[in-house]
Amino acid sequence: MSPFLLTRTLPEDATDAALRADVLQGLTHTPKTLPPKWFYDAHGSELFEQITELPEYYPTRAEREILVARSGEIAAATRAHTLIELGSGSSEKTRHLIEALNNLSTYVPVDVSESALTQAGHALIDEHPGLQVHALIADFTARLTLPDTPGPRLLAFLGGTIGNLLPVERAAFLASVRDLLSPGDALLLGTDLVKDEKVLVRAYDDAAGVTAQFNKNVLTVVNRELGADFDPAAFDHVALWDARHEWIEMRLRSRTAQTAKIPALDLAVDFAAGEELRTEVSAKFRKEGVRAELSAAGLDLAHWWTDEEGRFALSLSVAR
Ligand code: AVJ
Repeated sequence: MSPFLLTRTLPEDATDAALRADVLQGLTHTPKTLPPKWFYDAHGSELFEQITELPEYYPTRAEREILVARSGEIAAATRAHTLIELGSGSSEKTRHLIEALNNLSTYVPVDVSESALTQAGHALIDEHPGLQVHALIADFTARLTLPDTPGPRLLAFLGGTIGNLLPVERAAFLASVRDLLSPGDALLLGTDLVKDEKVLVRAYDDAAGVTAQFNKNVLTVVNRELGADFDPAAFDHVALWDARHEWIEMRLRSRTAQTAKIPALDLAVDFAAGEELRTEVSAKFRKEGVRAELSAAGLDLAHWWTDEEGRFALSLSVAR
């Protein structure tokens, strides 16, 4: 068998249909919203890579610190033969895990970006002769069907991306993850933690303005894909801490009263001066909350590791 297999579970035009549906839904709703997954075209992905290197944006470094320190323990606890990674992107942090998992035969990266999957897949095969990589082009928020690979399995969902889901969506997502596993298989989950509000807000409103550019990039995506005429300069980047929900929200605030046309949807969207469009929720977690959410999905928390400063956590849970 070829060491690299690529399976497309998303029709070529699925992305376009999903974007149309999300934009129509979100911009005709009060208050206006857009889902964060549309930040990540090639330029948005590049901006996100820059964010991960900003002094204010600690999650990526904190999670890497935990992975470097705990990969051996993760390998010993799971003895995984298959590693599945949702939202694998460049698979950069995963390398530490792959190196530590002595019994690993198969890596299943799942991402919407075919180019990222192909690049990362070939690089990993070069570094690990004998490793089978079976990449899946798929949207992990939709129903997934995984290839039949040897157990025990370890499914990793890193970066704190679970925080982009609202609580009800999180419950459904964790239940569907549990359904992909057999009893004894494990989930490795990255979650950013509740902390000082100033530290959190700075991480989403950096001095160099990279996060502001990233936020406004969603308008550029809608302009390009749906022929819209949003002026990104007519919106201000807003990051705020919602203490009740314990999440960061990113918004785009209209500087003036304005109308944006979206020809592909035959839609005109009015903004009042100061009106805000919510573009992202990034939930922050506490150990007992994560334990309860995992348990409700049929996953028992087995390990909880944080970085030295206690900013970010990796949890390992086991399917019942
Ligand atoms: C990729 C979803 C984990 O929520 O921190 C970074 C995205 N948004 N800066 C996060 C993001 C603004 C990031 N995740």
